[in-house]
Amino acid sequence: MKIVTIVGARPQFIKAATVSREIAKHPSLKEVIVHTGQHYDHNMSEIFFKEMEIPEPAYDLGINGKSHGAMTGEMLVKIEEVLIKENPDLVLVYGDTNSTLAGALASRKLHIRLAHVEAGLRSFNMRMPEEINRILTDRISDLLFCPAENAMSNLKKEGFDNFNSKVFISGDVMYDAVLYYSKKAEERSGIVKELGLKDFILCTLHRAENTDDENRLRAIVKALNQISGEIKIVFPVHPRTKKILEEKKLKLNFEFIDPVGYFDMLQLTKHCRLVMSDSGGLQKEAYYFDKYCITLRNETEWKELADEGYNVVAGTDTQKIVSSFHELIKKEPRFTKKFYGEGNAAGFIVKQLLELS
Ligand code: UD1
Ligand code: UDP
Repeated sequence: MKIVTIVGARPQFIKAATVSREIAKHPSLKEVIVHTGQHYDHNMSEIFFKEMEIPEPAYDLGINGKSHGAMTGEMLVKIEEVLIKENPDLVLVYGDTNSTLAGALASRKLHIRLAHVEAGLRSFNMRMPEEINRILTDRISDLLFCPAENAMSNLKKEGFDNFNSKVFISGDVMYDAVLYYSKKAEERSGIVKELGLKDFILCTLHRAENTDDENRLRAIVKALNQISGEIKIVFPVHPRTKKILEEKKLKLNFEFIDPVGYFDMLQLTKHCRLVMSDSGGLQKEAYYFDKYCITLRNETEWKELADEGYNVVAGTDTQKIVSSFHELIKKEPRFTKKFYGEGNAAGFIVKQLLELS
């Protein structure tokens, strides 16, 4: 069985890593990786392939830095060409980026079976490009792998019981990745020592809804500047955010760092006091490392974490962010509930793929 995997952005490399490793264990499965090029800086792309030992992409389409329509459209054209040439039995897509949607559309229009990993997540905010990408991808997928029960229940509410698709709860492939790569990260990342870190919080910020809205961005920056007076903030800045902070002349009163690789990120998450972020993936990694997360958005797709109080959805109000920080920094996290499987989501997914062949 030939599988074409479409990836393009940082979180997808991480999600695809353990599934690729699992696919490689089965001689009856052949994987061809297509990188759309959406992320292209060394430390946004190549470093993940190297560290996580993901096979080299057979194709790098080099499509990035364009408007949504242009980017998704160009990807659709180029992915279609690859799929016609490769003629796979199945296309595998991850998450909710423009690369996900383009891969999904290209494959289904060619009547190629489509599997979506990280299906069923919803923010119920249709202004997010990711929400549009995931709803459309889910609707046309043949196999949908949900990370948790809540995602499955979203799909049921949308009527997926009546559609001709198979929906599974697989667990979270990012949990597999945390378990598998943590030991390697411990050995290979020296970031905590190199930066002389002791007591610090970890922050990331890149969502369009925050970076592209000056008021929201300004309010978050103000909160970070206040908090940095009390504790060190380690902030690996996404290139999109860096550019906009410079353009809008928004000043952070502490030093930020460039994006880091996965090993460094795992070590930073493990050793920080708490996480502040608008990232989807990092919200869960915080939980896997028993760290509270203050989510810098008005909603989260990881509802179960917010319901348990493991994740505080603070929005972008300066005072709410600062007061959430004051409240959580005093608390000792005790996360007793497990939501995302046992760390074998990739094994489960590949087992389902094998049953198709
Ligand atoms: C994309 C995803 C988002 C995901 C994020 C993960 C969509 C709509 N958004 O957002 O869901 O959370 O990736 O990080 O697909 N840039 C660089 N170097 C890079 C990558 C990006 O300089 O390696 C800059 C470019 O100027 C680019 C901008 O960042 O125009 C935004 O990149 P883009 O891929 O459009 O969206 P992200 O914000 O990265
Ligand atoms: N990440 C990383 N280096 C960084 C910032 C993030 O390795 O400098 C990892 C992070 O640990 C998580 C993934 O990238 O596993 C999340 O990607 P991102 O926040 O870009 O996207 P999202 O999850 O919001 O789609």
